[in-house]
Parts: sequence; structure tokens; C-alpha cells
Amino acid sequence: MKKAAFCLLVLLCLLLSVNGTSMTLFVGCTSSPLCLSEPVSYMCSGENGAGLDDDVLRWGIRDSSRSSNDNIPNGTTAYVERTDVSTPRIIGTYFETILTSSADPMRSNISFSPVLAINNYTILCDIIGTTPFGCSIIIADVLAAPVSSDIKFTSDTLVFSWTPQSTSPCLSHYSVNVTSIEYTINTTNTSLSLPVHLTNDTEYSISVVAVDTAGRYMDPTSKIIFIADVPGPVTDLVINWTGFDIYVTWNYPPYFVSPYVSSYIVYPSDHYTGITIPAPTTTYNIPDVTVRSVYTVGVAAVNALGTGPTASATISIICTFVPTRSITSFSVTPTVVTNRGKLMVLKST
Ligand SMILES: *[C@@H]1O[C@H](CO)[C@@H](O)[C@H](O)[C@H]1NC(C)=O
Ligand SMILES: *[C@@H]1O[C@H](CO)[C@@H](O)[C@H](O)[C@H]1NC(C)=O
Ligand SMILES: *[C@@H]1O[C@H](CO)[C@@H](O)[C@H](O)[C@H]1NC(C)=O
Ligand SMILES: *[C@@H]1O[C@H](CO)[C@@H](O)[C@H](O)[C@H]1NC(C)=O
Ligand SMILES: *[C@@H]1O[C@H](CO)[C@@H](O)[C@H](O)[C@H]1NC(C)=O
Ligand SMILES: *[C@@H]1O[C@H](CO)[C@@H](O)[C@H](O)[C@H]1NC(C)=O
Ligand SMILES: *[C@@H]1O[C@H](CO)[C@@H](O)[C@H](O)[C@H]1NC(C)=O
Ligand SMILES: *[C@@H]1O[C@H](CO)[C@@H](O)[C@H](O)[C@H]1NC(C)=O
Repeated sequence: MKKAAFCLLVLLCLLLSVNGTSMTLFVGCTSSPLCLSEPVSYMCSGENGAGLDDDVLRWGIRDSSRSSNDNIPNGTTAYVERTDVSTPRIIGTYFETILTSSADPMRSNISFSPVLAINNYTILCDIIGTTPFGCSIIIADVLAAPVSSDIKFTSDTLVFSWTPQSTSPCLSHYSVNVTSIEYTINTTNTSLSLPVHLTNDTEYSISVVAVDTAGRYMDPTSKIIFIADVPGPVTDLVINWTGFDIYVTWNYPPYFVSPYVSSYIVYPSDHYTGITIPAPTTTYNIPDVTVRSVYTVGVAAVNALGTGPTASATISIICTFVPTRSITSFSVTPTVVTNRGKLMVLKST
């Protein structure tokens, strides 16, 4: 270990003195774009030859987007060996340099807070007599707005999520804008679960943008709008009958973003009050039906806002001693066909 360190030291000494020249060492430069308002600091150091009082460390700032004819440094500063350390200097408007070692080797830091005005600038540093080092400043672009998912409502919570179009260290937060309840939230999450007191006939509009460290953002890719309401009618309502049982089956109402269906209410004809079936169950069995009765069964879907329209179908129980099939459809006028009193089919028209 000691040997290795010694060898390294010898190598360094060779580099520094035998040749009489050395490289400028630059620490911290990155090819990644810089985030606005996130302070950056680089270090430059070097030694040209072994003598004291013979070195000058120079900083320069150049606007690389200007034509080469006009490619003059926007500002420079230079430190000679034995200069007082720790007195900051300003180059141009945005860059501050400070000497941290005045000799063997000389060492200086440059720091700045990235602003758009220095996009495409290059920071130069050299110890006079060595090859200068250049570090380009590229400011990160505005972040693309995330792609939003659908809104979903559970009983009284609005759930919404989004996917970033790119990951960037320059993301500060997402800003989610919910109109109609005038709600804006800053979050680093990629989803939002918001307690919302739903009201009928209210238009909700939600958008999300990615805000960077400087507060910049792009227009939202989409704005999701919907009007909260009670559910639509259930679909595929079917009643059939076997023995003394009536089976009722149905499907979800067609919905996209309206509040979730929490339950169904089934109205068998001999009940005034409906029977509540919690979702997602979509079947109901009415036992002990009476032969030669007509049953009109209604089903309505319920969500946080209330009860939707009732869809209904009618079945006539003519005969029960033969296992049979009977079909009706949602909102039908049933036609009863008897086949020697044994078979009954209800057809939808
Ligand atoms: C360039 O230098 C001028 C004069 O020193 C200064 O006013 C200007 O702000 C500088 N520009 C930048 C981007 O540092
Ligand atoms: C100079 O930069 C180096 C490396 O980034 C850092 O460790 C050091 O604290 C800085 N010194 C000053 C005075 O800013
Ligand atoms: C920065 O330089 C690149 C090419 O080097 C150029 O395309 C871009 O427009 C420049 N940006 C600014 C802000 O000057
Ligand atoms: C929210 O959206 C509304 C309507 O689009 C807009 O007027 C308002 O400025 C937005 N608010 C924020 C904070 O983005
Ligand atoms: C982010 O998500 C966490 C866990 O899912 C939650 O506890 C936190 O409240 C959320 N923050 C915001 C601002 O929504
Ligand atoms: C969200 O962040 C912005 C800065 O990007 C700030 O102006 C605003 O007040 C914040 N809003 C909330 C609700 O915290
Ligand atoms: C919404 O409207 C339906 C009828 O359209 C009504 O039954 C229900 O009570 C209303 N809900 C609220 C929360 O106002
Ligand atoms: C009645 O419908 C139920 C549920 O769809 C089904 O399981 C049963 O087989 C049907 N019965 C007849 C006789 O079609």
C-alpha cells in the first residue's frame, strides 16, 4: 500500500517536474444538461513546472453560440501564485471564482447558479503554459407534460394517475389542476387520490404538468373532462326461470369515468322496496315463485351520486314441472309461447 502510494507520488512528480509541464485538472464538469437554479461548482487546478511564483491560473467564460469571429471571452480572471486565497471574484454577471490554494498546485473553484442567459457558454480554465480545459454549459429543456390516465371515482374519492414522458433530475414536482373545485396540488407522486364531495351534473377537468427546478412547464398533453352523474341503466338484463326459482342477471351500465357503481337495487314485483346487491355481484335469485304469475323485475345501478334509471324485464311463469329455458331481454315486451303447456319461451322483440 505504502509502496503503491510512493510509486504514485513518484509518477506525479515525474509528470509535474521532469517534463517541466503538466495538465490542467478540471473536476466536476458533466455532459448532462444542467438544471436551472441548481447551483454548480467546478474545481480547476494545476502546476506548470516545479518553480514557485511562476504559475498563473486563468478562468474564462465564452459564449459558444456566437460566431467564431465574435468569439471573445465574456469575461476572464487570473490568479498568480501567492495571490491571497479566499477572496471571491465575479466574472461577467453569473460566475464566482475563489482561489483555494495559491501554489503547488494552484487550485480554484468556480460556481454559478444556471440561468438561461448562460446556455451554450463554455467555462475555460488553464494554468498558463498547459492545455486549457473547456466545459460546456447546456441548460436542460423544459420537461414534457406527463401522459394522464383516466379519472376514476370510488365512493367519494377521485383517483387519477399519470406517466412522465421522460425522467429528469430537473423535475421539481408535478402540478395537478382540478377545476370545478379550484384545486391545485404540487406533488412528486405520480398519482393523486383526492377526497371530493361529488355533486350531480358537475364538470370535472383535470390536467397535470411537470414543473422543473425553475418553475417552467409545458402545456398539459391532455385535459380529462367528465360530468359526474348517477349511473346509466344496467345492460344485458336477463331473467330465466327453473322450477320455482327466477334467476336475474345483468351487466354493468356502460360507463367510463363517472363514479363507480357501488351496488344494485333489484325490484322483484312483489317487493315495493328494492333489495340491495353490493357490486360487483350481478345476479339475483328469487325463490318460491308462484305458477301463473307475471313477474316484472327491475334493476338499477347505484353510485355515490344516487340511483340510476331502472331497467326491467317481465316473465310469466306458466308451468314449472319441466326444466326449461326462458329468456327475456332488457326492456322487452314478452311474447308467451306455450308448447303443450310444458315449454315457455319469452322472446325479445
Ligand atoms: C457578459 O459580460 C457583460 C459585461 O461584463 C455582462 O453584462 C453580461 O451579463 C455577461 N453575460 C453573461 C451571460 O455572463
Ligand atoms: C471547491 O470545490 C471542491 C470540489 O468541488 C470542494 O470540495 C471544495 O469544498 C470547494 N471549496 C470551496 C471554498 O468552495
Ligand atoms: C446552443 O448551441 C447549439 C449548437 O451548438 C444550437 O443548436 C442552439 O441553438 C444553441 N442554443 C442557444 C440558446 O444559443
Ligand atoms: C387550472 O385550469 C384552469 C382552467 O383550464 C386555468 O384557468 C388555471 O389557470 C389553471 N391553474 C393552474 C394553477 O394551472
Ligand atoms: C404521495 O403518496 C404517498 C403514499 O402513496 C402519500 O402518503 C402522500 O400523501 C402522497 N402525497 C401527495 C402530495 O399526494
Ligand atoms: C406549487 O408550486 C409553485 C411553484 O412551482 C408555487 O408557486 C405554488 O404556490 C405551489 N402551490 C401549492 C398549492 O403548493
Ligand atoms: C343526483 O341526481 C339523482 C337523480 O338524477 C338523484 O336521485 C340523486 O339524489 C342526486 N344526488 C345528489 C348527491 O344530489
Ligand atoms: C339461468 O341463468 C343462470 C345465470 O345466467 C344460469 O346459470 C342458468 O343455467 C340459467 N338457467 C336456464 C334454465 O337457462
